Amino acid sequence: MSTLKNQLAFFGQFRKRFETTGAIAPSSRFLARSMTSYLAARVPGVPVRILEIGPGTGPVTDEIVRTLQPGDHFDLVELNDEFVRILKARFESEPHWKRVASQCTVHQLPVQEFQTSEPYDFVISGLPLNNFPVDLVRVITDAYFRLLRKGGVLSYFEYMYVRPIRRVITRGKERERICAIDDLLRAYCDQYRIRRDNIWINIPSAWVQHLQTK
Ligand SMILES: C[S@@+](CC[C@H](N)C(=O)[O-])C[C@H]1O[C@@H](n2cnc3c(N)ncnc32)[C@H](O)[C@@H]1O
Repeated sequence: MSTLKNQLAFFGQFRKRFETTGAIAPSSRFLARSMTSYLAARVPGVPVRILEIGPGTGPVTDEIVRTLQPGDHFDLVELNDEFVRILKARFESEPHWKRVASQCTVHQLPVQEFQTSEPYDFVISGLPLNNFPVDLVRVITDAYFRLLRKGGVLSYFEYMYVRPIRRVITRGKERERICAIDDLLRAYCDQYRIRRDNIWINIPSAWVQHLQTK
């Protein structure tokens, strides 16, 4: 029931704020599991710091809260006030969210303005970078690496073949924008990628990129 409610809320925000919402439906369980796979495989008993960027209605958050252990610290950064309201309500009402609520903080602001005194072991991002101006993508990817500790893992997803297709079918300024984003993300992947997962069961299908700083 709450899943359907969250899906409808997500679709409503897609219609109202297409550019920042970036998808018609929340991520599938398969995508959420891939996004959290490095976190799920961390050394047991050693507390970690986790940052989720753009949690939306919380499909990836739901996997994160299931893996949280005592001593872990989990911050969520979400721009959209309606999604923040839904996330806070889930921390108050869903038993497995409630269990770890004291270790979790929802922050409402754009990630590029988010500051922390300590970097994170895991940064998990659902931002629709392909929708943004290239300067914003540059600022956001700088923020990812500013917020990630050395040796930490960044996991983010992107819908399959969006940039390769748009590179071919667009012209002028839009083509320049897509090519610049593609070049920027490709350079990060060339330098830091440790794995890419193909997630076919998602709307639309997606690649999950896992990067680790040295
Ligand atoms: C494609 S949705 C992903 C939602 C969710 N993680 C999922 O997988 O279903 C993108 C999310 O990023 C949020 N967002 C967009 N730009 C943001 C920014 N600069 N800072 C923080 N959140 C942002 C949107 O409000 C939305 O919740």
